Amino acid sequence: MDISCLKFYFFALMELLILNGPNLNLLGRREPETYGNTSFDDYLESLKKKYGNIDFTYYQSNIEGEIIDKLHEVGFSYDGIILNAGAYTHTSIGIGDAVKAIETPTIEVHISNVYNREEYRHHSYVSKNAAGIIVGFGLKGYELAVQSFLKS
Ligand code: DQA
Repeated sequence: MDISCLKFYFFALMELLILNGPNLNLLGRREPETYGNTSFDDYLESLKKKYGNIDFTYYQSNIEGEIIDKLHEVGFSYDGIILNAGAYTHTSIGIGDAVKAIETPTIEVHISNVYNREEYRHHSYVSKNAAGIIVGFGLKGYELAVQSFLKS
């Protein structure tokens, strides 16, 4: 059979990395009055169900260098990165530099409203090089970041 007339279309799924920094492995148990009662695993499942057209990679580390390595690993091939660097947001020039060094646009997310909290949380080494910043919407902030990639 001559199939040369048939056209095959391949739709590559959008690849997004969600990258969480220190102590965010404890979501659901850590300071629930600030960060809520939902574990990130449960939240991620709901995101995956809702956005079946996105290929999500999730990575969490409490180690600064591992976060930098992950940014390097995906930062020239993925479509987007959603980064909550946790406390390293406020201390890590290295993570800020990594976000600047890569090509993939990075959205900075914070679950809590860091501007409503201690002053040392008001400065971010990530923001200057982020494509956007979402702060204070709880876990919903990650979904807002996903939606921003879908619309761009
Ligand atoms: C956080 C805010 C940071 O100040 C804090 O150190 C975190 C979580 C947030 O998502 O609200 O670990 O990034």
